[in-house]
Amino acid sequence: MQEKLILQNKIAKGDFARGGETSSNLKELLRKLGIQSDKNRRVTIVTYELEMNIIIHSHGGEIQVYISSEKIRVVAADTGPGIEDLEKAFQPGYSTADDEVRDMGFGAGMGLNNIKHYSDELEIETGPGQETKIVATVYL
Ligand SMILES: Nc1ncnc2c1ncn2[C@@H]1O[C@H](COP(=O)(O)OP(=O)(O)OP(=O)(O)O)[C@@H](O)[C@H]1O
Ligand SMILES: [Mg+2]
Repeated sequence: MQEKLILQNKIAKGDFARGGETSSNLKELLRKLGIQSDKNRRVTIVTYELEMNIIIHSHGGEIQVYISSEKIRVVAADTGPGIEDLEKAFQPGYSTADDEVRDMGFGAGMGLNNIKHYSDELEIETGPGQETKIVATVYL
């Protein structure tokens, strides 16, 4: 099967009310497509962390999900401000989330680690003052 776009969602900065919407829509979609529940779970977790990071840390962006017979690819792209220091950002517990966001239960500094753990491949393009593009792949 040729790779096909199955989901495309715009995500606005600070839009906590719709936080989790992209990943739960995807979960339902993958279920309907008959994707194995373990793969579905992994892709859903990765997508949830990516969408919350766009809501919390970026100026806004978009998530696209592609599927082929071999893999599911989640592409998260935002318009900045970029990840200052990627090595630091991957340290468990490191977070730039403010107190208000922490009070909502986010900012444990575990999202990127989760994304890495649950994906088979991970590509990140970012930098200070740049757009961030993250591509996470789960093989079927
Ligand atoms: N899309 C993004 N744009 C800019 N900075 C980001 C983005 N995603 C992550 N970061 C930076 O990387 C840090 C670590 O991200 P990570 O998802 O691991 O933790 P968190 O979002 O702070 O907390 P948690 O995900 O546990 O709620 C963030 O605190 C933020 O500084
Ligand atoms: Mg996060």
